Amino acid sequence: MGGLDQLGSGTRSPEKFEKNIIVEIGSGANPFILEVSQDYRDRFKNEPETHYFALDINEPELRRGKSLQEQASAAIGLKNVKEKIHYLKASGEMLPFPDASVSEIIMSNVLGDPGAPFSGKMSMVEEITRVLKEDGTLKIVEYYTPWVADGAIEKVRTYLEEIDSKKEGLPTQEKNSDAELAQKAKRIFGDDKQIFVRRFRKKPPTTEL
Ligand SMILES: C[S@@+](CC[C@H](N)C(=O)[O-])C[C@H]1O[C@@H](n2cnc3c(N)ncnc32)[C@H](O)[C@@H]1O
Repeated sequence: MGGLDQLGSGTRSPEKFEKNIIVEIGSGANPFILEVSQDYRDRFKNEPETHYFALDINEPELRRGKSLQEQASAAIGLKNVKEKIHYLKASGEMLPFPDASVSEIIMSNVLGDPGAPFSGKMSMVEEITRVLKEDGTLKIVEYYTPWVADGAIEKVRTYLEEIDSKKEGLPTQEKNSDAELAQKAKRIFGDDKQIFVRRFRKKPPTTEL
């Protein structure tokens, strides 16, 4: 397992990472930070407390993604990110993080993966809800077969509220990230019709009076 970070069988102590944990579920050989994410790169430079955890159940794919990201980071002269980007062989159905400890979760082409069982996607949504901080956000990106994600996104809506990106006004970094994704989709598909990025925020807890 050399090269992949180990969490062991329990959950990782949050002290070191509690400020700003970003988790990508199902990063595979194509971690989100690899290509489309000037904004995340900027955050590593500007936010010393930001840590990124890329998770996948498929170890060879995870290793490939790690190696590609390291090459890409080196090519753009991004240094000192190694200790801030972690690769974990772990399942989105059993996230190795304590309750309410994660600021942001990203899933790219995971809920829309036709090969993944629906029940597993449901378990992931429950785990995501558990580990997100109260104001934490989930970003769902789909550009292969986005229609496959529809049923799972309904489940997301029962736990998290959708952020209306147009009304709320996104930070510039996020807008740039969406534009970069649209360009990527255009390269892959010849147009950007298949792409969507949806953002959700954890609902505040219900208070009984
Ligand atoms: C279609 S690939 C997407 C890879 C990459 N995120 C992308 O956008 O190209 C789906 C990935 O989700 C991973 N995956 C499926 N079920 C998972 C689970 N329960 N936990 C973590 N990863 C999972 C697969 O191993 C695969 O790498």
